[in-house]
Amino acid sequence: MKITIFGTGYVGLVTGTCLADVGHDVLCVDVDADKIARLEAGEIPIFEPGLESMVQANVAAGRLRFTTDPEAAVAFGTLQFIAVGTPPDEDGSADLTYVLAVAETIGRHMKEYKVIVDKSTVPVGTADRVRERVVKTLEARGEALEVDVCSNPEFLKEGAAIEDFTHGARIVVGTESERVKGLIRECYAPYIRQQEKLMFMDVRAAELTKYAANAMLATKISFMNEIANLAERLGADVEQVRRGIGSDPRIGYQFIYPGCGYGGSCFPKDVQALARTAADVDYHAELLTAVEAVNQRQKQTLFAKLRQAFDGDLAGKTIALWGLSFKPNTDDMRDAPSRTLMASLWDAGASVQAYDPEAMRECRRLYGERDDLVLVGDRIQAVKGADALVICTEWKEFRTLDFAWLKQQLAMPVVVDGRNLFEPDAVRAAGLLYFAVGRGDSL
Ligand code: UGA
Repeated sequence: MKITIFGTGYVGLVTGTCLADVGHDVLCVDVDADKIARLEAGEIPIFEPGLESMVQANVAAGRLRFTTDPEAAVAFGTLQFIAVGTPPDEDGSADLTYVLAVAETIGRHMKEYKVIVDKSTVPVGTADRVRERVVKTLEARGEALEVDVCSNPEFLKEGAAIEDFTHGARIVVGTESERVKGLIRECYAPYIRQQEKLMFMDVRAAELTKYAANAMLATKISFMNEIANLAERLGADVEQVRRGIGSDPRIGYQFIYPGCGYGGSCFPKDVQALARTAADVDYHAELLTAVEAVNQRQKQTLFAKLRQAFDGDLAGKTIALWGLSFKPNTDDMRDAPSRTLMASLWDAGASVQAYDPEAMRECRRLYGERDDLVLVGDRIQAVKGADALVICTEWKEFRTLDFAWLKQQLAMPVVVDGRNLFEPDAVRAAGLLYFAVGRGDSL
C-alpha cells in the first residue's frame, strides 16, 4: 500500500517507519529541507531507542523515502497521514496552523480520491475543519474530487515509541465511511492480531478519546502527587500507600508514581487544550484545571525543599543536577521539571552542575553558554564540589548510589530526590539529609 506522511516529528517518523517495516511503501514529507536531507542519509533528529536502525533498514530496502516536494507527496499515497505539530496557542488551545496548511496542500495538488488521516492531536471538530479547507481549496481550482477525513490518534510514549506503535493497546479510528474502514484495515492489518484492537467510532469520539486518555493519565499523576504531599505532612510513607492502592485492579499500578510533576510535549499541552475546548463550549472543566494547577505546584517542590534545607539562602551555592529530560530514554526537555528547577535556582543566585545521559546537547541548545550552568560528562563529576544533589529524572544509571561516598563529595549533605529512587532509611543512615516525594521529612 502507498502511504504519505506529512511531518517527520516523533509521531510522523515512528508511524512512517513502522508502516514501512511491515512492507508498505511510505513517503514522508516535511518542509524542513535540512531534516529531510539528514533522514535520507539515515540520520534521525531525535533520540528514540531502536528507531535509527529501523529507519536505515527501511531506507535501504527502498520502502521508506523522504521528500520536501508536496506535489509528489500528495500524488503518492491514497492514505495521507497528517502528523504535524499542534503547539499551544497563547490561551492554551491547540494551534491548527500547520494541520490546516497540510489540508490546503492536499487540496491544491490532489488529482484523485484521497483519505486524510489526522494523527496529530487535534481538538474535537478538527476533521470537519480539515475537510472544509480541502473542499474550499478544490473549489478554488474548479474541482469537485472526493475526499474523506478520518481521525486516528496516536498513543505512543516517547522512549518506547516502536513497542507502543507495534503492540499498542488499541488502534482508534474515527470514521463512518465503509470505504475508509477498508483502507485503514489494509494499512494496519499486519498489526492487528486481535480484531477487537481496531476500534472504529465516530470522528468526534476518536478526537476526544485522545484527549481523554492523556487527561486521565495526567489526573492519576496529579492525584498521586497530591496524596504524596499530604503523606509528607501526615507522617505517612507514600510508597507504601502507592502499593496499597495499586493492588486494587480498579486502580492499577501504572501512572501512580508520585514525583516532581509531569512534563513532555503532551500532558501539559493536552490538559490545557482540553480545558480550553471545554471553555469554548461554556463548560468549566473544574477537574482539568486542578490537574494542571497541582502539576505546576509540584514542579516547584524540588526548589522549595532545597531552599528549606539551605535556610532560604541558595545564593552562591552549586547544585548538582542529575537528569534533565522530562523522563528517561529520551532527550526531550519540553516542559521538563528540571527546567522549572534551574530557573528558580538561577533566580536565587545558585549555579547548576548538570549531567544527563542523553539530553546534554538539547540543554546546550536551549540555554547556550552561561556561567551558572556547567554541563559535565558523568554523574560523578556533577557532584564534585557541589553543595547538594537533586535528581530530576529516573534514568536507570542513577538507581545505584554509594551513599557514604556521596556524603564525602557534598559540602552540605543534602539530597533532593524528585523520583523516589532510594529507601529513605538507607540514605539517612549514611548521614545524608534526604528529601524525597511523600516519604517523610529530613529536617
Ligand atoms: C504521553 C502518553 O503516555 C502517551 O500515551 C501519548 O501518546 C503521548 O503522551 C502523546 O500524547 O503523544 P509521553 O509524553 O511520551 O506519553 O510520556 P509519559 O511516559 O506518559 O510520561 C509523561 C510524564 O509523566 C513524564 O514527565 C513522567 O515522568 C510523568 N509520570 C509518569 C509520573 O510523574 N508518574 C507516573 O507514574 C508516570
